[in-house]
Formats: sequence, structure tokens, C-alpha cells
Amino acid sequence: MSRRPAFTCAACGAVTAKWAGRCDSCGEWNSISEEPAVAGPRATTSSRGRRIVLTDLATTEPPAPRALSGIGELDRVLGGGLVPASALLVGGDPGIGKSTLLLQAAARFSTAHPVIYVSGEEAPAQVRMRAARLGLTDAPLRLAAETSLRDILATLEVERPALAVIDSIQTMWADHVDSAPGSVAQVRAAAHELVTFAKRRGTAVVLVGHVTKEGQIAGPRVVEHMVDTVLYFEGERGHQFRILRAVKNRFGPADEIGVFEMTGAGLAEVANPSALFLSERGAPTAGSAVFAGIEGTRPLLVEIQALVAPTALGTARRTVVGWDGGRLSMILAVLEARLGIGFADRDVYLNVAGGLRITEPAADLAVAAALLSAREDVVLPADTVFFGEISLSGALRPISQAETRLREAEKLGFTTACTPPRARADTGGRIEIHPVADLGAFMDKWFGSIDR
Ligand code: TYD
Ligand code: MG
Repeated sequence: MSRRPAFTCAACGAVTAKWAGRCDSCGEWNSISEEPAVAGPRATTSSRGRRIVLTDLATTEPPAPRALSGIGELDRVLGGGLVPASALLVGGDPGIGKSTLLLQAAARFSTAHPVIYVSGEEAPAQVRMRAARLGLTDAPLRLAAETSLRDILATLEVERPALAVIDSIQTMWADHVDSAPGSVAQVRAAAHELVTFAKRRGTAVVLVGHVTKEGQIAGPRVVEHMVDTVLYFEGERGHQFRILRAVKNRFGPADEIGVFEMTGAGLAEVANPSALFLSERGAPTAGSAVFAGIEGTRPLLVEIQALVAPTALGTARRTVVGWDGGRLSMILAVLEARLGIGFADRDVYLNVAGGLRITEPAADLAVAAALLSAREDVVLPADTVFFGEISLSGALRPISQAETRLREAEKLGFTTACTPPRARADTGGRIEIHPVADLGAFMDKWFGSIDR
């Protein structure tokens, strides 16, 4: 069989016969490189395959018990602990704290189960130094500094640990693939072999993956498809908060988050994230509104900050940190179309305080509140929370879990909530609810009559 060179896109994993500057599948620039064709089994109908065993859905086997790490935030994100024989990918920017988190988790696991931690990036002495700093030196964790996939698999085959951490997948080197470590083919081959090992031997395997500056796990997206669970470790460099977010989970809810704080002695769990995210709030200022959000199964209060300033140069700027830029444009357009409040000649900056990234449409109302507060220089009452989705007509849509949001707000001392209609819920408490049907009613309530 003559093999033609194949070209693979590092962003989406698409394979083409020709090199191109831009990937036809995902539109990414400069992501295509030549990869040696992988010698796979020839799928032909003539060769005889082995007959596979078929089973049915009804089973008497009890589900294998999950292993708890003892780190509550991590166990929750996993959906109640680590599932045996599962494969996980933990992605994040370099330096965000992936190795720290996994060393802490591995050390905790190792007190109850055999655990092997393989570092392809650091020497054992470096890992030991870190462990000493984290106060983990007594944990019965087995350590290796190795990048050869063949040797690692041979070792795991003999040791059969309950958990193996591979830090990182980009440093692994499979000698049967003829390209450099970190390349698409290498990452894919290494991930495939490790995931197969996990399934075959019942070892849970955690792969650490670096994320490119575009926010994707370097190497093909296919690694995400191969594993059972994908967690992202994220946060802003200047902040000590770190969020562990499940973006895919075959064994639990996706979108669940765990909140950590990076301290001098490693990552500490944050039991009450709302209090932490609001703790940085200074004196009430114009442009600040508190959003009562939900992350996974948990309510989370965050401050939305907006700044609106006259545009100095031709085009008005829109800068967003922690929220979707397209969604901001939509809110601005709705404010203009439905209320006649224009932002065309003003720069708009929007920031979610504390380095959190929110994706809920329920944040619309808090964003609109912050924008209007900034534009009109009106300070919103500090003890009020906002939530609600804004539709293109300017009407407010009801959103899910209003009661949970209200309870959390009440717990943190808020006395008033501005919500869509029908959010009235029995919180059993004293929080005062101001339902607003649309943006017009919202304006009248909080900003009175302003000069449009
Ligand atoms: P690391 O876990 O090495 O990041 P990654 O594996 O994602 O590349 O984290 C490195 C950063 O964490 C580094 O900037 C220092 C900081 N850090 C602390 O603040 N406290 C600690 O106890 C440790 C171990 C690291
Ligand atoms: Mg690391």
C-alpha cells in the first residue's frame, strides 16, 4: 500500500491531502502540518475478524465504587469522586497550577489507593521540592520522571495502580510514531494508548494538557473525544482564584465548577465562593452590579463592572473580560433599539470581577444594570442583586433556579433582588423581590427618567 503524506490540523484534527494555510474544516490559520500516516489496521471485509462478545443492558454487576480524593471541590467536579478505569484530561494555561492540583490530589488518593505520578516536565527532585512545600512528603505516592510511553506503560502494567497521573501528555513520546513529542500524531498516539490501558486494566488515568493561547488543548481536539472527562483549570494570573470546570463528563454533570485559592502552601478549597468573589468589592460605585448566578449546581454571586467613556478615536471600543463579547453587543443593541440609549460614540469596558468567566444568559440583566449605571453615573444600591435574560424585544425572560439564587443572595446579606416576572419564589426569608417585565420597567425602577 503506497502511503501519501497526510496533513493534520492541530486545532480540529481534520486530515487533508494537501497543505493549506487555513484549515477548511475549522477555519484556523497556520494549524496544518504534515504528519506521518499512522499504520492502522486495514479495514477490509476480506480479512476475518474475531467475533466480539455481545452483552445486554441489564446487568447484575454493582457499579464500581468511586474513589474520593478528600478534596471536596475536586470530588464534586468529578461528579462524586473518581471512577475506576476512567480517563480524564485536565487542561489549562501553563503556570495556572495543574501540577500543583494534581500532586495534591494524587497525594490524597495515595493514602487509600496505590497511585503513580509520572512527570515528563520536572525531575523527581523538583517534584519532591514542591511536595515538601505542600506538606505532602509523607504521602505514599510513587513518583517517576519519564517521557517514554513504552516504558511508562510497561511499568503501569506491572504496578497496576488505581490512579496514574501523566503530567503532561505533550511531553510523552511514543517511539512507534515518527514525529516530535507534542506534535498532533504523538499526542494522539500517547493519549490513545493511555486511554486504552485505563479501560483494559481498570486504572484511572489523568492526562495533563497544556492549552494554547487560543484556549484549546494543544494537539488535536480528538484527545477530548477519547477521554471520559475533560476538566479545565482556569483563572486570571493576577488573581489567586482558580476555577476547575468540567466541560465534559460521562460520569457526572458537565458545567460543574470547583473553586480554589492559590496560596503559599498550594491550592486551598474555597467553601463559600460568593463571599470570596464579593470580598474585593470596594465602596459602591457607578458601573457595578451584583449578579446572582448559578455555576453547575451551585449559586455564585459575582460583581459585574462596567466603564463607559467617550470614544477618543474613530471607532468605539468594546472590551470584555469574563463574558461573551457577542452577547455584550446584543445587549447594547437592545438598549439602543428599545430604550433609545445609544453607545455608538462611547467605549464600553465590561469585566467580571475576580477572574471568573460566566456564560449564563441570566447575567444579561446585571450587565445591562452595570452598563446603564456606568453611562448615567448612577450608583446602584449595594444590597441588590440582578438576574434575568433579556430578549431582543427588550422583554425579560424567566430563568431557571431563581429560588436558589435568591437564597444565596439572602445568605450573603442582600435585601433586594431585581428579577424577571414570575421569579417570585418562596425563599422563606425576607429578601424583597422587584420583578420587572421589560427594560422599560427596569429603567423606571432604577434610573428614573433619564435624558436619552
Ligand atoms: P504549576 O502547578 O507548576 O502550574 P502548571 O502545572 O499548570 O504549569 O503552578 C505553578 C504556579 O503556582 C507558580 O506560578 C507558582 C504557584 N504556586 C503557588 O503560588 N503556591 C504553591 O504552593 C505552589 C506549589 C505553586
Ligand atoms: Mg506543570
